Amino acid sequence: MDFRDVLYRRRMIRRYTPEPVDAAALDRIIDAGLRAPSAGFAQGVEFVVLTSDESRSALAIAANETKFIERGFEPWLSVAPVHIVVAVDPDVYHHRYAQHDKTSSSTPSEWSAPYWSVDAGAALMLLLMATTNEGLAAGFLGTHAFENLGGIVGIPARFETIGLVTIGHGDPSPVVGSARRVRRPRSETVHRDRWNAGRRISPGS
Ligand SMILES: Cc1cc2nc3c(=O)[nH]c(=O)nc-3n(C[C@H](O)[C@H](O)[C@H](O)COP(=O)(O)O)c2cc1C
Repeated sequence: MDFRDVLYRRRMIRRYTPEPVDAAALDRIIDAGLRAPSAGFAQGVEFVVLTSDESRSALAIAANETKFIERGFEPWLSVAPVHIVVAVDPDVYHHRYAQHDKTSSSTPSEWSAPYWSVDAGAALMLLLMATTNEGLAAGFLGTHAFENLGGIVGIPARFETIGLVTIGHGDPSPVVGSARRVRRPRSETVHRDRWNAGRRISPGS
């Protein structure tokens, strides 16, 4: 698929048909996620890939899916054929930035945002885009939505578990929630030469 097509077609999809995902396509998606850049090439991001009925229902229970269905939302985690949990090990970065070629560089305590979280976001984005490139659909659900996501899939406590990517064949669903919001215009979000003060979005808009 053309890069611009991938870019413009990618949306968060939360409704899937039960059709399984081709194993070779899933492998290519995982490979893409592993191509993400990382601070100091530390490569602290790891994935847990889940495709079984048992894991689907365990994740749906942990996210309290029935409560959402009762409120009118579609089943999501219980139907998506593939879940990829994205996690990152901060210790890998602490060790990497203590190595001799990095001692004159920055330390994690000086970073304006933890680079392990930045790296996890980059890997997440590649998973989403590679999924679109395969003609499949992907969504993301943050760790906050779960009772102990990392614990369910056995991720060691030292890792930061970012959330999970759902992958499958998309089933058209009504546009609800955040998807109804409009994209901010370039005049507000792109600053040429210097910061130009555009209209700020109020928290409720
Ligand atoms: C860091 C991050 C956290 C998100 N958390 C959730 C989430 O917990 N649940 C959810 O349904 N969507 C979540 N989303 C999806 C956003 O709502 C979605 O990306 C946004 O509305 C823009 O829509 P689009 O991705 O379809 O363009 C998250 C996205 C990001 C990048």
